[in-house]
Parts: sequence; C-alpha cells; structure tokens
Amino acid sequence: DKGNYRHFMEKEIYDQPEAISDTLSHYINFLDNRVVEVSGDIAFANVQSLAISACGTAYLAGLIGKYWFERYARLPVEIDVASEFRYREIPLSPQAAALFISQSGETADTLACLRYCKEHGLKTGAVVNTRESTIARESDAVFPIFAGPEIGVASTKAFTCQLAVLAALAVAAGRARGAVTEKEEQILVERLAEMPRVMAQVLDSIQPKIERLSRELAKCRAVLYLGRGTSFPLAMEGALKLKETSYIHAQGYAAGELKHGPIALVDENMPVIVIAPHDRFFDKTVSNMQEVAARGGRIILITDEKGAAALKLDTMHTIVLPNVHEIIAPMIFSLPVQLLAYHTAVFVGTDVDQPRNLAKSVTVE
Ligand code: M6R
Repeated sequence: DKGNYRHFMEKEIYDQPEAISDTLSHYINFLDNRVVEVSGDIAFANVQSLAISACGTAYLAGLIGKYWFERYARLPVEIDVASEFRYREIPLSPQAAALFISQSGETADTLACLRYCKEHGLKTGAVVNTRESTIARESDAVFPIFAGPEIGVASTKAFTCQLAVLAALAVAAGRARGAVTEKEEQILVERLAEMPRVMAQVLDSIQPKIERLSRELAKCRAVLYLGRGTSFPLAMEGALKLKETSYIHAQGYAAGELKHGPIALVDENMPVIVIAPHDRFFDKTVSNMQEVAARGGRIILITDEKGAAALKLDTMHTIVLPNVHEIIAPMIFSLPVQLLAYHTAVFVGTDVDQPRNLAKSVTVE
C-alpha cells in the first residue's frame, strides 16, 4: 500500500527512519551502547580476510562496507560484483570469510558466488531482506536487514539498511579483533543510534530544494557524480539510481579520477553532483570542484554545515545537511541522492516504480 505517496519509491525513501530504527534494534544494545554479538558462525576474530560479492546497489553497499571493515576492524576486504567474482578464479583461502549482500536473497550471480565460496571451504554470511530466501538458507550466518518489503525496483531503504547492518558488523568485527576499544565502540554505536532522528530531520527539510533542482536535472542528457572515501561508492549509487529511474545517463567517479578522463566531459551543460561531507577528504574534493568550476561545469554540492561554511567557491546549488559522524554520513547523504533520482524521474515522466527493462529480482545470470 502506497499510503499517501505517489509511488512506492517515494514511500520507501520516507520509510527509512523507521526501517533503520528497526534494523538497528536487532544489532545494537541501546542500554550499554554496544553492538550485539550476532556474527554466529563467522568468527571475525580469527578470519584473515573478507570476500564480499553482490550485484547493483547491494554491491555498492558492500563497497562502503569495505571501507568500514578495513578501517574499524583492520580486516582486508576483497570485493567484486558477483558476475565477475564467480568467474575470476580468485585464490580463496579457507581462513577467509565470505559475505553476500542481496535484498531479495535470490539474485542468481550472488547465489552462484555463495556456492562457489562454500565449495572452497569459506564460512559464509548473508545480508538479506528476505530470511526465507535461497541465499539466506544456504549461508552459515544470516544478517537480516529488517527493511520491510521493498516494492520499487530502485532499491532505497534496503540500501541504507544494508549499510546499517554492515556498519554494525564492522564494529562487531573490530571489537572481536581488538581493533576498536570499548570507548570507541560506544561512540560509534551512539552515533549509529542517532541515525533515525537525523534521517527524519533531513527528509523533513530538503524536499523543496531537491524538487527545484530535479526540474533542471530532468532536462539534462548526462550527469556526473563525484565523491571520495565512502562518498565514492555513494556517487556510483547516485548515478545508478538516476539512470535506472529517469533514463538519464549518469556516471559516478572517484573525485581523484576526474583528471584521468572524465574532466573532458565538463562544460557549461554538464551538471556535476559532488558528494562531500566535511570529512578528512573535504579539501581534496574541493580542489577537484575547483577544476570543474574552472571549466564552467555546473556544480551541485551535497555537503554538511561545516562544509558549506568552509567553502569559498561558487556552486550552482548547495544542499546542506546537518553535521554527522562519518559512520552515518553515507546513510544520511543517501537521502538527497535518492530524492534527486526520484523527483527527476517524476519530472521526466518515467514509470518510476517499474522502470523499463528492469526486474526487481534478477534470478537469471
Ligand atoms: O536483490 P538484490 O539485492 O540481490 O538485487 C541486486 C540488484 O539487482 C539491485 O540492487 C538493483 O541494482 C537495483 N535495481 C538498484 O536500484
């Protein structure tokens, strides 16, 4: 049921504060601000590396997870899209664990990776929305995301719930491996716990601005998204979301790659969406923005209050979010990214919930 919303995608975007709150309640103990021990058959303390595979948006969630597992758990991560992972002949060690991320739990390539990893003796874990799914059934450990049914073909709330689970797992792995102190764990958990409230606040405030901007984007032929650190996978997610819902060509790039090719595309007609919270990469990303500005590119900056205050550069539009801890920034910054895709698609007039040529669950290779 869409309730008062025009599309499931819109409803699912606005469902996120509640969905995230549900998800976190299974992974966090709010009484002592610790992560719950959920790793089951995956002994994070002993594994030497983690192999992640998934498709589409779930893959991009995994890519953000990689930054977290490496940073907070000092656990090396090998990640690839499932359709490549399964054929790359990766030398897999039984000391590695494997994680599969899938909203539906039925994606053919992801399932094939799971079976492949099991054959090689790896312990397996599934981050899924559907506990009765094949991927969940065949995995040693299941990490449900509790997003509730996602009907829109474009994945929104499943993405942020996958991120919430991956963040909690990375902190749990960090604790198990002695890479995160109790104090650090509590700070990270407190920040995660704030997420539903911040999400609700952001969703309440940004819509009018996003709608105005989307009206302009809907007239464009191509859009470039840039980001660094965890904002890089989010840039790719923004591009994927815009492409699949509005049929406008979009590409997400690591901001540092700009000079290695994509800057050739930049002219007065090219909107460049820069995702840049005021994190340790901010100044670097600003210098990439200067390069875009110098070539007349139309910069749409998504930043936070600190970033907006520090910026000494004219942008065409700036969307300002509250300052948040870096562990929740990818989820908070997902909101404007999703809403931009949604409203642009509405202006273009596509079938937002059921875009052409796409299926919600891809059960063939
Ligand atoms: O059900 P899954 O999470 O395994 O699906 C993976 C992709 O097919 C899916 O995320 C797809 O990329 C979405 N349409 C993106 O919005």
